[in-house]
Amino acid sequence: MRTRITESLGIEFPIVQGGMQWVGLAEMASAVSNAGGLGILTGLTQTSPAELVNEIERCRSMTAKPFAVNLTILPTIKPIPYQDYAQAIVDSGVKIVETAGRNPEPFLPLFKSAGIKVIHKCTSIRHALKAEKIGCDMVSVDGFECAGHPGEDDVTNMILLPLAAKRLKIPFLASGGLGDGKGLAAALAMGADGINMGTRFMVTREAPIHEKVKQKMVEATELDTSLIYRTLSNTARVFKNSVAQQVIDIESRPGKTQFEDLQSLVQGAKGRELFDTGDLDKGIWSAGMIVGLIDDIPTCHELISRIVAEAEEIIKRRLIEAVS
Ligand SMILES: Cc1cc2nc3c(=O)[nH]c(=O)nc-3n(C[C@H](O)[C@H](O)[C@H](O)COP(=O)(O)O)c2cc1C
Repeated sequence: MRTRITESLGIEFPIVQGGMQWVGLAEMASAVSNAGGLGILTGLTQTSPAELVNEIERCRSMTAKPFAVNLTILPTIKPIPYQDYAQAIVDSGVKIVETAGRNPEPFLPLFKSAGIKVIHKCTSIRHALKAEKIGCDMVSVDGFECAGHPGEDDVTNMILLPLAAKRLKIPFLASGGLGDGKGLAAALAMGADGINMGTRFMVTREAPIHEKVKQKMVEATELDTSLIYRTLSNTARVFKNSVAQQVIDIESRPGKTQFEDLQSLVQGAKGRELFDTGDLDKGIWSAGMIVGLIDDIPTCHELISRIVAEAEEIIKRRLIEAVS
C-alpha cells in the first residue's frame, strides 16, 4: 500500500498505533513497527525524561523500523516538565512525534530544527486547520467514536473525514472506531491517507496489559463504553465498569462537579494497577466503541496483515464490482 503517509513516514502500511498511557511501551510500539505499521511509545508513561530516553533505546533494540513518541499535553494533577520530555525525544534522535491534548506550537521550533515530523492529533476541523497553519506535517483526526478524549463537539468520523479531505492540504490519518479492513478501506475512500488505532492494538498479544483486560474487551459490545468528565468539558471515553459509573453518578448530582470529587476514583496509578493485575474495577481505562468489533487477540503482525488483506479485497473486488 502506498499513500502520502507511508511515503512520508517510511512505513509499509498506512496503519499507526496511537499513543496509549501505560500501554505504549517498547513491546507494543516495536511489535507494530516490525509488522510494517508505525508504533508509538507514550512519552508520559515514563515517569521522567531520563526514563523516556531509556525506553527509546529499549525500543530501538527491538526494531530497526521507524517508530514515534507521543507527547500528550493535557491538564494533569501533578505539573509535568513537558519541555524536558520534548528535549529527551530530540536528544534520542527520534524522527517522528505524535502530539495531542493541546496546541503543540510551543514545541514546534525544537522539533522542526531537529528534522522531526510532527503528527498532531485533534478532534475538530478547526484544530486540524490550526495544526496545518502552524506547520505540523500531518494530523490524526479523532472522531467521537475514539477512546480517550474525543473533545466536546461529538462529531463522528463519517462527517469529520470528508470535511478534513475537503479542507486540509496536509496528509491526515483517520482515528477512532477503526479496527478492520472495512475501516481502512472506508477511511481511504473518505480521503484519509491511513488509519490510527488505539483500542484495537490494546487487544493484541504484545500489548503489555493483563489478559483479563483483553478478554473483557473481546466480550464487550459497542455499548460498553462510557463518557466521563462531560461536566468538566474534558470528556473521556472509557470502558464501562463500576468505577466509570460512579464517576457518572457523581457528575449527575445537582451543582457543579469539581475534579477533586472524582480524583480518588480516576487516579492514573489505579488505571495502571488495573492493567497490571487484571482487577477490572480498580480504576478507569480508555476504550473506544470499536470494542464492539473486536473478537480475538491476534499478534500485531496477524492484525495488520489481515486489515491490509481485507482492505485490498474490498477495494479490488467489492468496490470495482460496484462500478463495473
Ligand atoms: C488505553 C488507551 C490510552 C490512551 N492514552 C492516550 C494518551 O496518553 N495520549 C493520546 O494522545 N492518546 C491516547 N489514547 C488515544 C489513542 O491514541 C487513539 O487516539 C484512540 O485510541 C483512537 O481511537 P480507537 O481507540 O477507537 O482506535 C489512548 C487510547 C487508549 C485505548
